[in-house]
Amino acid sequence: MHHFAYRAGVSHSIVLHAEAVDISDLAAAVGTPFYCYSTATLERHYRVFADAFAGMAGTLVCYSVKANANLGVLATLARLGAGMDVVSEGELRRALAVKVAPERIVFSGVGKTRDEMAFALDSGILAFNVESEPELRALSAVAEARGRTARIAFRVNPDIDAKTHHKIATGKAENKFGVPFAEAPSLYALASRLPGIEPSGVHMHIGSQITELAPFRNAFVLLRELVGTLRATGFAIDFVNLGGGLGIPYRSDQPAPPLPADYANLVKEEVGGLGLTLLFEPGRMIAGNAGILVARVLYVKRGASKMFAIVDAAMNDLLRPTLYDAHHEILPVTEPKPGTPMVVTDVAGPVCETGDYLALARPLPELRAGDLISVMTAGAYGAVLASEYNSRLLVPEVLVAGNRYSVTRPRPSYGDMLAKERLPDWL
Ligand code: LLP
Repeated sequence: MHHFAYRAGVSHSIVLHAEAVDISDLAAAVGTPFYCYSTATLERHYRVFADAFAGMAGTLVCYSVKANANLGVLATLARLGAGMDVVSEGELRRALAVKVAPERIVFSGVGKTRDEMAFALDSGILAFNVESEPELRALSAVAEARGRTARIAFRVNPDIDAKTHHKIATGKAENKFGVPFAEAPSLYALASRLPGIEPSGVHMHIGSQITELAPFRNAFVLLRELVGTLRATGFAIDFVNLGGGLGIPYRSDQPAPPLPADYANLVKEEVGGLGLTLLFEPGRMIAGNAGILVARVLYVKRGASKMFAIVDAAMNDLLRPTLYDAHHEILPVTEPKPGTPMVVTDVAGPVCETGDYLALARPLPELRAGDLISVMTAGAYGAVLASEYNSRLLVPEVLVAGNRYSVTRPRPSYGDMLAKERLPDWL
């Protein structure tokens, strides 16, 4: 469910709107390409997820900032009471900038630096997800030096196949994430002896865009067993962090992933009733369908064997199609008239790489130069993965709420781009 839909525009045509804002008007005001996010969609997704656990004592939804770190998006979620899952000092500073209470923030990631640990400890965050013994020892030393104690959960790697794209699966033994499941008890024993550490939770995150419940169930069963073992050994485990990973529908011709309510029932069955606080780290589920990337067709080009629509957005703006073979639906911003011929088209950008495409061999209504298109479901892992490759300017991000919009990250100028660098004094 999202709030991007065709509606009657000012002219006689039917135009894609973000809530009450006409996307073609926005394109005229902001220029293309740009990301556009819908407040109502963000709010709905957060509420659907959080409400699925209503009635369960002690749950905290920590939105995973990596999915979409735009301050407008974060502030929207913070206002609803979301906690946040961060993986760098930069993300932590963003969460704090929008006034998320530090005691609602968790810090994940395999490579936290000592400086990042110090900043997070001084900020008073809720907990660290620790991914290795050396990281644990470093965190203890940093905490002790500052006269603080770090509450931690080990991220355990359950060696479970999340049945998702191999680049976003994280719970297999061969992945760099987490500590081996079998070593967890001895690591908790070590943690309880270290001066700067208070082991109080267990964390697991097995991957992203998971579209079946079975991998979650397998993981949660193991998690429950581990909590039992740890408690029996005398450790006071008071929370589990179940990570993120719930998939979203990217295409209408495939079965929809499980609903948050189904996921919540599974959680209740497997880890409810243990007197544990439950933390979650959803990212994509909240932001994915709440954003689109709008681009303009520059040229329509007939190759020897197929049609190409060359648009002004490229792989540097939305990396997912080429990096993960991801499918994003593409809609013309002006609704095509009935009977418009469909043409199998590659939608490609201006970047000088064969891998620069937004869609391959896609049946689309015939496109013309100047047409606007919308790349759907681009709110998660879209703008955050963008780069300036080919010295292209980062695209602006716009947040819509009802009939209002705000350019929450403006398009930089070429002057801004060049001013970020310094020439060495010998040149
Ligand atoms: N927690 C941890 C520890 C994570 O590593 C991640 C995502 C999440 C939570 C949020 O997962 P989500 O609910 O969004 O699935 N760039 C890739 C996705 C990378 C996910 C990285 N970790 C993509 O565009 O598909």
